[in-house]
Amino acid sequence: MAKRFFSPLNYDFGDESLAFLPAYSYLCRRITPKTYTLYYMQQQKIIILDFGSQTTQLIARRLRELDTFCEILPYNKFPADDPDVIGVILAGSPYSVYDPEAFRVDLNQFRGRMPILGICYGAQYMSHTLGGKVEPAGSREYGRANLSAIDFKDPLFKGFDENSQVWMSHGDTITALPKGFHAIASTEKVTFAAYAADDERIWGVQFHPEVFHTLQGTLLLKNFAVDICGSRQDWSAANFVETTVAELKEQIGDDRVILGLSGGVDSSVAAVLLNRAIGDRLTCIFVDHGMLRKNEFQNVMKDYECLGLNVIGVDASARFFADLDGVTEPEKKRKIIGRDFIEVFNEEVRTLSNSPLKGENKDSLPLREGRGGSGSFRWLAQGTIYPDRIESLNITGKVIKSHHNVGGLPEEMHLKLCEPLKWLFKDEVRRVGRQLGIPEHLIGRHPFPGPGLAVRILGAITPEKVRILQEADDIFIQGLRDWGLYDQIWQAGAILLSDVRSVGVMGDERTYENPVALRAVTSTDAMTADWAHLPYDFMAKVSNDIINKVKGVNRVCYDISSKPPSTIEWE
Ligand code: XMP
Repeated sequence: MAKRFFSPLNYDFGDESLAFLPAYSYLCRRITPKTYTLYYMQQQKIIILDFGSQTTQLIARRLRELDTFCEILPYNKFPADDPDVIGVILAGSPYSVYDPEAFRVDLNQFRGRMPILGICYGAQYMSHTLGGKVEPAGSREYGRANLSAIDFKDPLFKGFDENSQVWMSHGDTITALPKGFHAIASTEKVTFAAYAADDERIWGVQFHPEVFHTLQGTLLLKNFAVDICGSRQDWSAANFVETTVAELKEQIGDDRVILGLSGGVDSSVAAVLLNRAIGDRLTCIFVDHGMLRKNEFQNVMKDYECLGLNVIGVDASARFFADLDGVTEPEKKRKIIGRDFIEVFNEEVRTLSNSPLKGENKDSLPLREGRGGSGSFRWLAQGTIYPDRIESLNITGKVIKSHHNVGGLPEEMHLKLCEPLKWLFKDEVRRVGRQLGIPEHLIGRHPFPGPGLAVRILGAITPEKVRILQEADDIFIQGLRDWGLYDQIWQAGAILLSDVRSVGVMGDERTYENPVALRAVTSTDAMTADWAHLPYDFMAKVSNDIINKVKGVNRVCYDISSKPPSTIEWE
């Protein structure tokens, strides 16, 4: 990651004027000559080593909530020569330490250099490797437990209550600690629920502090991050904006950047951030593939223009509908839409490359490096956020749906990738958006899949089916807003079961039409989700409105599946 500089004072001197400063040569090694930061601090970070557990991301989220920057890296990718690392967490794993396939890490890379916290597998792995004993537990230790024999003098348990509730989930258990280690908490079944080294800064907990059911889990992580590792807790939206804008200016220089807007919060925030850094040298393209929500294209274009973005709207719906004709298989739909999107985008970039910036005379433009063809844009910006990358980098390598745009950069465009939000979680993106003054109705928008309603129409896609679904979806979403429910929901939408028909009666007429399913979920990151317990009165009203107003729909169902085992989208 590029360095971040927190700068109470930013001086813009000429290069020479700084030569007399004693610290000049040192600063020059650390920063580029554009912005000289006399009072600067590096971005501290805690490294979380990923051994494949589903809760690893949660540890990162908790640390970010504590305004502490952290990175999740594969277990074998510890950045040994990064001077900004202030601590390391070894996270959980689906494996037992005895499993031949278990992930192993050389502790000497960081042992003695910085504090270490092992969580679950991480705790067992350290104990096992350093000479302790780990054995299969009689029965899997799973669920709530209460801590006893807490060592309140240990900094990890500062402020803890007696009997504090924790969440256990492990098949093995530590039966003997390595020499030089001692227990700092137990539970009824687990003698070494937490341990510490006598003379080193090493801790291990067999429970999961990152999960909600460990009631003082955040306190434990705070004790580790702040008191033990020395986090300054300076990871904030304001700092992020200030430092990222400065970095973008430096990174991009006088180049032009192209960005694909989706109408969603991530690409919008990325665009406004870039716009703040490089103004009109950012050009945004918003492609209408014909499967957006009702009036979405027009509304979002207006919003973007109000935000001062240099944005071009492209209606390519006819092309997408033609290419999707008769296609029913979800992954095939995604692939076609992805391919068409890139082609449309590419064509636009080619056209735009030969057009001047606002106020520029094309003929008098200096020949920028790579100018000609798509070359006058040197950067492709994307609203990729951290969870997209973690899922893409997942060390277990299993793909459920191919929905992330990571790596979507077509080689032949010869553009460098700029992803200013790549370290942020969704809630952090929203905080940054607010910091940038983006209006609340854009910030609070529910996520919406790139392929849009195409993955919410089960069966082949036609413009007529899209129209039907848009109407039903609009009634549902507008209803959520009117009833004050929208902001309590992570994501909602309607699904058209276009290959299913059922009998109904309207007036005296028999109907034989499609059902619509409604889906609304609560979640914090879309990795897991629960179906939203919407009020019955609300559902009755929405169902009634949809059946009465949307021709082609005679039945409304509500999806009561959580993720896992279901996914949020039906396709
Ligand atoms: P699932 O269905 O995997 O969705 O539980 C998790 C989140 O990802 C969104 N999603 C997509 N986003 N392109 C996208 O840009 C896609 O193809 C896609 N499929 C799912 C989904 O809406 C939810 O927020």
